[in-house]
Amino acid sequence: MKLVLDPNYQGLAAQLVKKFDILPTEFKNFPDGEVYFRFKESVQEEKIGILISGYPNQNDAVFKAVLLSRTLEELEARNIIGILPYFPYARQDKRFHSGEPISAKTVARSLFDSGIDRIITVDVHSEEVFEEFGGQFINLSSIEVWANYLKKELNGGYFLIAPDKGRSKFVKKLAGKANCDFVTFSKERSLETGEIKELQVVQEQKIKELSEECETAILSDDIISTGGTASQAIKKLNKVFDGEIIAAFTHGVFLPRSVPKLLRAGADRILATDSIDTPFSKISIGPLITSFLEKRE
Ligand code: R5P
Repeated sequence: MKLVLDPNYQGLAAQLVKKFDILPTEFKNFPDGEVYFRFKESVQEEKIGILISGYPNQNDAVFKAVLLSRTLEELEARNIIGILPYFPYARQDKRFHSGEPISAKTVARSLFDSGIDRIITVDVHSEEVFEEFGGQFINLSSIEVWANYLKKELNGGYFLIAPDKGRSKFVKKLAGKANCDFVTFSKERSLETGEIKELQVVQEQKIKELSEECETAILSDDIISTGGTASQAIKKLNKVFDGEIIAAFTHGVFLPRSVPKLLRAGADRILATDSIDTPFSKISIGPLITSFLEKRE
């Protein structure tokens, strides 16, 4: 397989070039901003993976993926694999109100319609919306990556926090792999404004008990965007836990002011994977993607 690398990716691309041949491709923008690229080698009968950074500039990312895959199909590539570790629009996975789009599904559908044979992503916000695509839509889990990191890097005892029910399945599995305990908070968001109406610490007694044996609590979420969810959870946690608090995210969107919000709330450390290039991307999902591609593609 040969890879086309989105020039917006730095860290993750550097991991993948160690294992795969790169298809030389020129990327630029026309003076008005429109996307231009040119494959500099034939792609006929080749299996091609396109690695696309889903943030920032989600709309460009989706359109770039459509243009690349359609062109690859026209030029008779044998197989086209879309690798979008952060899947844009994944959170609009329902018609929360009548008249809204189900953007997550439409993005996936557009990519398949443009010629992509399989989409590979990581820790997608919710898998259910992609069920109709069956094995064409592959969601890899970063659990193993996080478990290895925690076991290697944290010496004292630690436990995990899921900020809401949506994250509890992941956190429970991660706790199993990392041999630690976990608690789940409860969160309620307003469908009108997107604001968090309420975030509650449940199992406060359990946290107090864990505090006796653990130096660190790790708040784990799939995405940080405004930082609202994580900072509220950390603020509450801070009231009942004296140790170090790590805020850990798979996808670091980190909108302006989200980092100060986390720090003010009491986060001592911030970690993210390199699914999005950020200054906090200390954990690479490169090996996860590489080993999947090597085994399956
Ligand atoms: C929502 O359910 C997600 O899992 C994240 O908790 C959410 O997207 C984070 O967004 P924000 O940082 O804006 O609270």
